[in-house]
Amino acid sequence: MISDRLQKARDYEANTHISLRERPAFHITPTAGWMNDPNGFSPYHGEYHLFYQYYPYSTSWNDMHWGHVKTQDFITWQRLPAALAPDTDYDQAGCFSGSAIQLLDGRQLLLYTGVAPASPQQNVQAQCAAIGNGVDYEKLSGNPVISHDHLPQGCSKYDFRDPKIWQEPDGTYRAVAAAFTQQDSGAVLLFQSPDAIHWEYACTLDASHNEAGGMWECPDFFPLDGKQVLMVSPMDMYPDGPGIHPGNNAVVLLGSWNPETMEFSRESLQAIDCGLDFYAPQTLQASDGRRIMIGWMQSWQSADAKPQGFPWFGQMTLPRELSLRQGRLFQCPVRELENYRGPAVVHKNVSVTVSTALPEIQGRVIDMTLTLRPGQDCRWFRLYLAEGDGFATTLLWRPEEGSMEIDRTASGLPRDIANIRRFPVQAQDGLLKLRLILDRFSLELFVNDGQQAASAVLYTPQSAQGIRFEARGEMTMDVEKYGLIFPEEEKE
Ligand code: FRU
Repeated sequence: MISDRLQKARDYEANTHISLRERPAFHITPTAGWMNDPNGFSPYHGEYHLFYQYYPYSTSWNDMHWGHVKTQDFITWQRLPAALAPDTDYDQAGCFSGSAIQLLDGRQLLLYTGVAPASPQQNVQAQCAAIGNGVDYEKLSGNPVISHDHLPQGCSKYDFRDPKIWQEPDGTYRAVAAAFTQQDSGAVLLFQSPDAIHWEYACTLDASHNEAGGMWECPDFFPLDGKQVLMVSPMDMYPDGPGIHPGNNAVVLLGSWNPETMEFSRESLQAIDCGLDFYAPQTLQASDGRRIMIGWMQSWQSADAKPQGFPWFGQMTLPRELSLRQGRLFQCPVRELENYRGPAVVHKNVSVTVSTALPEIQGRVIDMTLTLRPGQDCRWFRLYLAEGDGFATTLLWRPEEGSMEIDRTASGLPRDIANIRRFPVQAQDGLLKLRLILDRFSLELFVNDGQQAASAVLYTPQSAQGIRFEARGEMTMDVEKYGLIFPEEEKE
């Protein structure tokens, strides 16, 4: 049964027409209106589904629905009708973030946070389920399936959300969810269930203890290259170490997990993305074993800053392959992106001087790798992207300081939001490798094969296609650039 509220959203989607070129070529944007967190990123019958926090009727956050897309290769996505609307007494204030899984009987289960008004001032949050066929879903009559009765002592029923479900090899379902206690602030709770419907509390995996931000939103928990990763998005952080800026951050807690004693021991905390726009990531395990992450390419702090008349708001990052190397998280664009490359443009051993432009090195839908070899006296290297009509976004590397600065102050948005971030990067064996993915409204940078990533939304007019290089002191560089080609756009 499709409720009136869901039907209204689907009708609205059917009547929304945004041309392909008004959107990024391969980053996900909402079918209409507003999008935040990725939800339910998971395999289903040989494809990968992604849902998202969604308000179709305007480009601002409001009563949360779930939007829906699916893919076979993480690059080309097919739009599906909205999957959930806030249409019951237990979720009338919003269907907040959650996850999805294919059940043994072939159906798909969505586990999400139902938000319901408890008083005019406050909403309560509890975990609800809906089961369906990959397009239409029925909410369970027993909702919520993880209610406040399941919470350990001291946890607030007002901040209890974002369940992420998976199945263990022995068939047990497990889910992590974000909780809040006066004493510990953000915490991650683990629940378990024989059937994904009847749940019990198992343990508390980790908590902020008022040290790593407030509420820890959108947890995920998975093994990676011999370690266990607890991924969270803490609110209200103080700047603390490389890549951690004030406000909302996304971090991995690396450690070990003992399923016998139900203990997670945290060994380190690392920022996931050192750029300006990254939050609420979620992962899945692909059929070939890869752990793939997708995040909301946006910051809550700048979510009200948008160009006038823009037809959509909110983008996902490119899906990224995760790995651990030397105790650190590495992330690389999914390899499927390479299937969309046009012919290579290569320049080798370019000596960069005061202002260097190169034939055919330009564009806003590109995959470009720079290999930089600074001489002894190189004080800095600067790269201008999306340059033209007085606009540019720059990357500034100071080899001696070991710092990279991304600056989008002149990227086209007349709003006083955070526009600059600086983070540590190091040359290795005298080389620094920068891979840049541009897709009309964003830039994603991957340093040294994924040692660091930095994402930024750019609203620069598309006429600004320029790329230029500048250095003080000796700098030699190789450039390898590919245009990314999407035949559907050519047809439109
Ligand atoms: C994170 C978040 C989640 C919540 C959702 C609401 O960005 O605040 O905790 O479920 O967004 O849209």
